[in-house]
Amino acid sequence: MHEDTKTVHLGRHPERYAGTVNTPVFRASTILSETVAEWEQKKKDRALEKQGTYYGLHGTPNRHLLEDALAELEGGYKCQVYPSGLAACVVPILAYVKAGDHILVTDSVYGPTRRFCDVQLKRFGIETTYYDPLIGGGISALMRSNTNLVFVESPGSLTFEVQDIPAIAEVAHKHKAVVMMDNTWGTPLYFKPFEHGVDVSIQATTKYIVGHSDVIMGSVTATREAWPALKAVTSDFGQTAAPDDCYLATRGLRTMALRLKQHHESGIKLAEWIAQQPEVERVLHPALPTDPGHDLWKRDFKGACGLFGVVLKAGIKPEALHALIDSVELYGLGASWGGFESLILHFDPREIRTATTWPREGQSAGPCFRVHAGLEQVEDLIADMGRGFAALRKWQQSIY
Ligand SMILES: Cc1ncc(COP(=O)(O)O)c(C=O)c1O
Repeated sequence: MHEDTKTVHLGRHPERYAGTVNTPVFRASTILSETVAEWEQKKKDRALEKQGTYYGLHGTPNRHLLEDALAELEGGYKCQVYPSGLAACVVPILAYVKAGDHILVTDSVYGPTRRFCDVQLKRFGIETTYYDPLIGGGISALMRSNTNLVFVESPGSLTFEVQDIPAIAEVAHKHKAVVMMDNTWGTPLYFKPFEHGVDVSIQATTKYIVGHSDVIMGSVTATREAWPALKAVTSDFGQTAAPDDCYLATRGLRTMALRLKQHHESGIKLAEWIAQQPEVERVLHPALPTDPGHDLWKRDFKGACGLFGVVLKAGIKPEALHALIDSVELYGLGASWGGFESLILHFDPREIRTATTWPREGQSAGPCFRVHAGLEQVEDLIADMGRGFAALRKWQQSIY
């Protein structure tokens, strides 16, 4: 079956639910058993990882079908949902490390994941070293005897460097370290983590899977080997997601393949248009042939989502960029991405880099912003961005 067909059909059982196309929402804390024997059987089934309804914390049909569908699409063994994308990034780390361990984390990691490593892992005696996302197989120089985990995110948050995941995974596995990946940008359709050596793959389902900017949720899919530790930590830390949210995420999944095609196409057109503006130093979009990560992206990815970055020329003032952001009408100013609507946000990579410099040696950089190309007509998005650049120019000229 083609992947897109799977997104439409996985986990649907109308015969079980009075013929309804969608599985109704099963809200539950307590789930009753008729007899002691039934209760004891449910406990046994749970220990054997048979799907059932035992207690709301451990899921109802809404959660089970979403987890099964995501595990299949990502290509892993099993999946667990989490209450947020951030929870999905950080709690599973605890499955694979203990006090005295060392982990390697990409310098381009999502900011709050970095904070978790710096603050919480440190409290538990786990040391983090950040590595250059362009390191590839050179990561072997950073491996220590106590390095048990490598956390990758590709393309990186904000700066969009593409990593050589197979090369990193090969080194990590030689040292028996687990490779964990934040695969939110790649989505379960455009990057297949388990075909590239990843052991544990994270989705901020909040983004393209939900797709409508109305649910916070995460998911973690693991290989058979990495699964037992993940399962135990998820359960011991009481991680779950609500049935209503699982219902909405499943609804989002049904249209995700089609939405992604549009995000891919509009994102590239918009990025190409922006790249031609004289105030732009470079566009950070791996699907553009000019991007340094393009070859790796072409080798490993099946598509691009709608999120990319823009670096303005060094002489441009931050206030000129603020004028651009304040003047556009179709791009909302706010956190997150992956919904149906376009977004824009300024950022400064220097605030969250320690292993690498921004800009890199020999490069020049001014203020930066991130764009999410939504599902509006791309001509409208380009015209609106044109108004934004006009406002930027006006502000920039007013200071001379
Ligand atoms: C790459 C990446 N990972 C994880 C997250 C966290 O997801 P959530 O907002 O659901 O906690 C985000 C949120 O923006 C993100 O951009």
